Amino acid sequence: MEFDFDKVYDRRNTNSLKWDKARDNHHGSDELPMWVADMDFPSPEPIRRALIETAEKGFFGYTVDKRDDRQIISDWLLRRHGYAPDPDDIALCPGVVFALTAAILAFTAKDDAVMISEPVYYPFSSMVKDTQRKLVRNELVKDINGRYSIDFDAFESQITQNEVKLYILCSPHNPVGRVWTKEELERIGNICLDHEVLVVSDEIHADFTFEDNRHIPFFSVSPKYEKEFITVTSPSKTFNMAGLQIAEVYTHDERKLSRLVKAMAATGYSEISVTGLAAMKAAYTQCDDWVDAVVRYIYDNAMHMESYLREELPMLKMTHPEGTYLTWVDFSALGLNRFKLEDLIRNDAKLWLDAGFIFGDSGAGFERFNVACPRATLDKALTSLHEAILK
Ligand SMILES: Cc1ncc(COP(=O)(O)O)c(C=O)c1O
Repeated sequence: MEFDFDKVYDRRNTNSLKWDKARDNHHGSDELPMWVADMDFPSPEPIRRALIETAEKGFFGYTVDKRDDRQIISDWLLRRHGYAPDPDDIALCPGVVFALTAAILAFTAKDDAVMISEPVYYPFSSMVKDTQRKLVRNELVKDINGRYSIDFDAFESQITQNEVKLYILCSPHNPVGRVWTKEELERIGNICLDHEVLVVSDEIHADFTFEDNRHIPFFSVSPKYEKEFITVTSPSKTFNMAGLQIAEVYTHDERKLSRLVKAMAATGYSEISVTGLAAMKAAYTQCDDWVDAVVRYIYDNAMHMESYLREELPMLKMTHPEGTYLTWVDFSALGLNRFKLEDLIRNDAKLWLDAGFIFGDSGAGFERFNVACPRATLDKALTSLHEAILK
């Protein structure tokens, strides 16, 4: 089936965080938003149809998922990633950040150490600090081609020195675009097992992988992991439905799952929505061809951006993405401090990107672009950037 990802939609005045927040604060109304991980493509047609059918029934009461619904999740994960959690090992909840925060609360105590690998999705550091845990910042290392990896000696010694209790794994990794290999995941898992560190694997970007890179579910690496660790994921990135608030957690350790579910319930807001569930079922059963097509389109956008920067703005270095729809670009050769760089991006190029430093100190000098948009939007952004830099 053909899908039209080139079509540009006007998302202003739709209560879109990505589009309308810029207009409501100091960023100005003509700024092009390429920040938050939200795609400028409408969700696939089966999801829209499922929502219309739900609306037509007219009942929006409290919602409960059934085993058959969780079987759908398991079937999707098996079909797309080769790992099928038992439906009884899965619990649904409203969001990934919500579930990660609940896991920190459930499995660690105040002042316990929680480790993350920076630069990384910035809510990871906020949730550790907001729950009054000690934040341990493991730094990813970069080779001469800008490819990031984990320094496993530092990783292990930071765990032992700080007595880390929980590690939040971002797999694939936002914003550096790494799709971790089996060997890397095995080293992470084995070090964490050796030191009794609970790994919570955030696999929300799993469906976006390019070239020969394949997402490897953490639990598929070893049967020990599915009994010891926790995975959190969601259809929200893949199907552009973050506003529908639905995500899933799973682990083969029944006690851990029930402890996590209790921690989520203790927030007083852990139930799923009738719309989120209907959309999830349609997403995971009727949209495989759309996902294949959208991933191809995003990869082409990323490659288009990579070659544009190489040819037109060679002082900017883009990390070659293995996955996600976020690109990570090093602006440090421009020699601008944090404020001057933001001034260039916001006021001269009229773009709203996510500044690298918010992902951790090692992200300073970088910018993260969201390339899940029509090619024309991406071209507009690249041209504005070009003019702002070379003016
Ligand atoms: C790694 C990662 N985890 C979680 C989220 C957000 O998930 P949710 O909206 O379900 O809280 C994002 C969104 O960009 C993300 O990149």
